[in-house]
Amino acid sequence: MGEMGKIVEVAGDLVEPVTIGREAYVSRDYLEAEREKLWRHHWLQAGRIEDIPNVGDFITYDILDDSVIITRCAVGSGPDTINAFHNVCPHRGRKLIDTPKGQRNARGNKTNIVCGFHGWTFNREGKCSFIEHRDDWQGVLTEERTSLGKVAVDTWGGFLWVNIASDAGPLREYLEPAAAMLDPFQLENMRCRWRKWIIFECNWKVAMEAFCETYHVPGTHPEFMEFGQFRGWGRNQGRHSNIGYDAPKGQEEDAAKLRLGAGEDPRQSTWEMQDFTWKYANTNTTMTLVEAARRLKDELPEGTPAPEVSRHWLASARAADEKRGVHWPVVDPMHTAKSGTSWQIFPNQQIGHAVNNMLTYQARPYGDDPNMCIFEGAVYELYPEGEAPETEWEYTKPEDWPPVLQQDFQNMAAVQKGMKNAGWKGAQPNPYMERTVGSLHYNLARVTGMGAPQKIQG
Ligand code: FES
Ligand SMILES: [Fe+2]
Repeated sequence: MGEMGKIVEVAGDLVEPVTIGREAYVSRDYLEAEREKLWRHHWLQAGRIEDIPNVGDFITYDILDDSVIITRCAVGSGPDTINAFHNVCPHRGRKLIDTPKGQRNARGNKTNIVCGFHGWTFNREGKCSFIEHRDDWQGVLTEERTSLGKVAVDTWGGFLWVNIASDAGPLREYLEPAAAMLDPFQLENMRCRWRKWIIFECNWKVAMEAFCETYHVPGTHPEFMEFGQFRGWGRNQGRHSNIGYDAPKGQEEDAAKLRLGAGEDPRQSTWEMQDFTWKYANTNTTMTLVEAARRLKDELPEGTPAPEVSRHWLASARAADEKRGVHWPVVDPMHTAKSGTSWQIFPNQQIGHAVNNMLTYQARPYGDDPNMCIFEGAVYELYPEGEAPETEWEYTKPEDWPPVLQQDFQNMAAVQKGMKNAGWKGAQPNPYMERTVGSLHYNLARVTGMGAPQKIQG
């Protein structure tokens, strides 16, 4: 983290303007550096704990040519109840569990993993329990030679995290300060409402950067401007970063997060914004919040000031959820303001958090083409005990995503193309609102040794 100190803080919250060359986005050498130095040596979010509720349940996670099996070996939520292994047979290298064609990952339940080539068999601890004609090896097949290779695995926020080379240190330390800032939101209690994935014609960083700043909102999502102008910020947080909005004057800090509709009648505009968000984004809100917004006009007199509308709306939604057994955590408004609206967990996980819902994005390379990526989006919320829907990763065409996300998608491939144009001289992210972009590349450059942002000389 020491090197981040090189960024000179200037007046206000601005950092120095930087430019980022095309190398990080289009070069094969850069992709190879990522393979060797990034993906294998950092903690990567690979799934949810609830994806493997029963002993023997497993999922796989693929990144470039590496693949990991994550399996539940015992009941409970401690890290020792989950094992992760390299998804490869120690005999002659067959990938042990194939990803079914067209699916994001394999998922199932197994007592033993049996290799499809010659039948070597492994238990949930990764120990080899059967080798046909074992004696032919004349006694050299030690446990070490025949066991599956262990991969570091741990949990935080309800997510499963893996570190392929098992050299990234404790997960908790790696995630700070994001973990401490997000803990009060109790993300581990949320369950998926929907999750989709898609293969895109852009670098994984282009995809992540389409969602890590609010500067694009007026240009890409002009409809949202009708609901009020909000000044967004981005902040370096060590190897991670976060974004948020400044609270409108006179409103409580947490109003900056659950954006209240602006306009003549805040009761009406809050409802319109919630209705729009539900229908066209299906993210960042829940039916309870939408319904509470719909009731505002019945429950509050005309002329109720915006801060009061905001307070009432949230209290009424919270009470409605309490009644059906959904308990929102109570988070101090100052903490909420500092935590912002979303976190970029290095390198490729974005978590848009709230007290009762969350939106996550991830992107990783597809094949070994720097111009392609796998992009994933998932929306979570709090459900009454036992009422969460069963969801699977759904492969969908761009037009099957919520319309607001399609607006973002339209930029992604176009950016990848534009970055290769001879006339392009490198990205110049907004030093206040898109600081997250610079932050990602400072941190990546420390890992890859390539593509560092350069200060723009005035
Ligand atoms: S490669 Fe797995 S048993 Fe031969
Ligand atoms: Fe967007």
